Amino acid sequence: MNSSEKFIKEKLDQRQSNGTYRTLKPESSLVDFCSNDYLGFARSPVLKHWVEKEVEANDRALNGSTGSRLLSGNLAYTETLEQEIADFHQSEAGLIFNSGYDANLGLFSALPQRSDTIITDELIHASIIDGARLSYANRYTFRHNDLKSLEEKLKHAQGNCYVVIESVYSMDGDTPPIKEISALTEKFKAQLIVDEAHAIGLYGKGLINQLGSESRVFARIITFGKALGCHGAIILGSKLLREYLINFSRSFIYTTACSFHQMASIKMAYKLLPLSANEVQKLHNNIHLFKKTSARPGYNLLPSDSAIQCLIVGSNDKAKQIAGQLQNAGMDVRPILSPTVPKGTERLRICLHSFNTSDEINLLSETIHKLSYA
Ligand SMILES: Cc1ncc(COP(=O)(O)O)c(C=O)c1O
Repeated sequence: MNSSEKFIKEKLDQRQSNGTYRTLKPESSLVDFCSNDYLGFARSPVLKHWVEKEVEANDRALNGSTGSRLLSGNLAYTETLEQEIADFHQSEAGLIFNSGYDANLGLFSALPQRSDTIITDELIHASIIDGARLSYANRYTFRHNDLKSLEEKLKHAQGNCYVVIESVYSMDGDTPPIKEISALTEKFKAQLIVDEAHAIGLYGKGLINQLGSESRVFARIITFGKALGCHGAIILGSKLLREYLINFSRSFIYTTACSFHQMASIKMAYKLLPLSANEVQKLHNNIHLFKKTSARPGYNLLPSDSAIQCLIVGSNDKAKQIAGQLQNAGMDVRPILSPTVPKGTERLRICLHSFNTSDEINLLSETIHKLSYA
């Protein structure tokens, strides 16, 4: 074994011994309580049919995009779609990226400069952390959803300051006090950036649209891989910001553009969303049912009205054990372990969907109850 292989082996062994070893699992036929397909778009026969029709109707479209957007990979279809999505969300402009990870990486590595400041909620998504790390800006975190803590950090901000939050947090499923954060950000002449990955669909066009706060945010990130059931993301903001990202955002510039098929899927998902009030209602009903049946004494269910519901069990071993038993009982629930979440807050992360039946949800709550007290 050479020294690189030794290093790799040691790192993997460490993971094995502290119980954090990751493995890829093949798709399963268990009841889905873990995917981000909140409204069932990824499995929608209607959407599949529409996408096929759209591809057929554009018979000159290529299978692949053939290059980056700045070289051969740009499509008039994509640019029109970007403007349609921007209009849908009441934003001036939008720029599509190959994924939400790329969008956040590209935005936060390119925009804040050495003398600027990025302030993020302590639970912010890894893609934002990674983007911010690639910038040379000063970086601070504030305590989760804590206005006082944010204000403290804002007092120390230098240069252009960006406050970054999620409208639904991916690991806890809760929502921050957006209006208050927005007011505080304005008081300190900072700019607010909101990642709406888990809010789109569940809250219609997203929480910023629902609150009518479009003009109070500098940029929004909407991902297409969750409730919209496809793949990719858009950064919404001004035309100026769009031009800037085209010029400076490396995860936009140095990568092959999405294929026509992917763009057609996104366009059709946006066509389906306004027609999905029933699915949205079913999802909200399922969230309500799960919360009602899971509210038991001694349970540490994190406060959340979203499709992401987390039951803290307090150790990696217990989280893995209960998730494994739920899987054996036919339900695909995944444990979230430390260090992904802070030690002591290891959890079962339950994702609810419009297509989960009441029986499935009742069985889930019942089984969790039995296992937790076993
Ligand atoms: C809040 C948040 N932002 C961004 C992303 C990344 O999006 P994508 O999966 O499209 O790369 C995720 C996905 O896990 C997320 O939860």
